[in-house]
Amino acid sequence: MSSLSGLRWLVARAVVLVAVLPLFSPVLAQEKAGPSKTLYARMGGYDVIAAVVDDFLSQLAADPAFRRFGQGRSQNTLVKGRQLIVDQICQLSGGPCLYIGRDMKPSHGGLAITDAEWESSEKKMIASLQKSKVGEVDRQEFMAMINKLKPDIVEPPAPQAPGATYDGSRVYAESEVDKSPLLVTHELPKPNLRPSQVVSVTVSWVVTVEGSVHDPSIVASASPEVDVLVVEAIRTWRYAPGEKDGKAVPVRILRTYTFGSGTKN
Ligand code: HEM
Repeated sequence: MSSLSGLRWLVARAVVLVAVLPLFSPVLAQEKAGPSKTLYARMGGYDVIAAVVDDFLSQLAADPAFRRFGQGRSQNTLVKGRQLIVDQICQLSGGPCLYIGRDMKPSHGGLAITDAEWESSEKKMIASLQKSKVGEVDRQEFMAMINKLKPDIVEPPAPQAPGATYDGSRVYAESEVDKSPLLVTHELPKPNLRPSQVVSVTVSWVVTVEGSVHDPSIVASASPEVDVLVVEAIRTWRYAPGEKDGKAVPVRILRTYTFGSGTKN
């Protein structure tokens, strides 16, 4: 091979390599296909997100366990809240919206949203996504996106912090004990309410190793009258104490009670 024909051969090989390489290089191939679609686009855009949020909120409104969150708000405030959630999800999923509401911590602080309430809201959200025919992979990405907000929304009641003491001994959360305290005697009051009125109150207290109630306190108020009735009733309750490793231990309880419109607690 002369040096000139050798050079031609080399140039020809280089041209072929440059043409073929992108087909085998995933990075280059991906760049060629352009950036992947956003979750927002894959879900079907704004209308699908609005439908998911509307269905989610109507499920929350229909569940008596969530009644305390919708009370005392005008229709207009509720609609504004709905719009803020749509905008927020639209923006988080890569859509063209701008969320102008408050951060999650200040807007949920003090509502005492529990882990159980969060889990229940997750199930509702997944059902809403399924109803809108959002596929499994996108559902998972959506829920992972929502779950990032959880630490700012769910609020363990302060006294339940591990190591909190009562009479010098550690108070356990219900989730930490082998046996939860078991109610032996209990009666809830029947507050006087208007015919269509529904109210909820969230209360926290410690069940002592003797099975009595210590320090019942309101976490989320129904009204001063109902709060007092409920706290006074809870003070009289008696339990078989909670147990850990075969020993009676003090356990903190957190419960929400709803009254009115034939609600059963
Ligand atoms: C257990 C679940 C949840 C409950 C019970 C709940 C309850 C509430 C309530 C009662 C408010 C009104 C607060 C106030 O104005 O005083 C609110 C506001 C709001 N929530 Fe939630 N929420 C939950 C989960 C979520 C999730 C998962 C998101 C996001 C996708 C979210 C987004 C918002 C937004 C954007 C606002 C309005 C903030 C503002 O007013 O600027 N919430 N929530």
